[in-house]
Amino acid sequence: MNPQLRFDVLSLFPQTVEGFTRESIVGKAIERGLLDVHSRDLRDWAKGKHREADDRPFGGGAGMVLKPEPLFDAIEEISSPQTTVVYMAPDGERFTSELAKEFSKLQHVVLLSGHYEGIDQRVRDQIVHREVSIGDYVLTNGALAASVLIDSVARHVPGVLGDDQSLLGESFEDNLLGCPQYTRPEEFRGFKVPEVLLSGNHEAIARWRHEKRVEKTRRLRPDLKTITNQ
Ligand code: ADE
Repeated sequence: MNPQLRFDVLSLFPQTVEGFTRESIVGKAIERGLLDVHSRDLRDWAKGKHREADDRPFGGGAGMVLKPEPLFDAIEEISSPQTTVVYMAPDGERFTSELAKEFSKLQHVVLLSGHYEGIDQRVRDQIVHREVSIGDYVLTNGALAASVLIDSVARHVPGVLGDDQSLLGESFEDNLLGCPQYTRPEEFRGFKVPEVLLSGNHEAIARWRHEKRVEKTRRLRPDLKTITNQ
């Protein structure tokens, strides 16, 4: 089967992504041919005896900057007209569930992961299509951010979760947080499962779950634009 979505991750830490793709639901999706993830070492495109992919910043300052040549060479070699090049960066557009859904419909995504001070601005200006941040903090290993994005996008690729219902009602669907979940036993250390969940009344359960989601979202995430009158 032809995978629906292919990721190529370009970084200085290819093992970070390889470790994660061997395991979990993403690993299974790759085995089942639903998804393809290739982790590439940027140094493979670096020239010179020491294969340096980074250098000191012009103008001075701490840290290192990824050089433009290996990035341009790698992206040009890996890309096709169907490719979306995404640079993972703390100053990018905030990654959300909406963006995960949007990316799950793409054919080929090249994820560029920098480190420390980032990458030469000419790469961002000339060859990158989107810039994405996974949150307001800075990672030293950008391949971690790429792994987070792949994991979240993979869940939206049809077939990956097995059951298409699995996404229903989870956090950020309908701009609501998820509802409380319980499993057996019905009573644990004197704490009981809410009666309605044992009632078998599907309508009452759906209503209760929706109310809990709305209440929790109002309390914890009033910034989410919730439609409360459903
Ligand atoms: N690289 C370093 N920090 C990052 C962040 N917060 N999001 C995406 N990529 C990053």
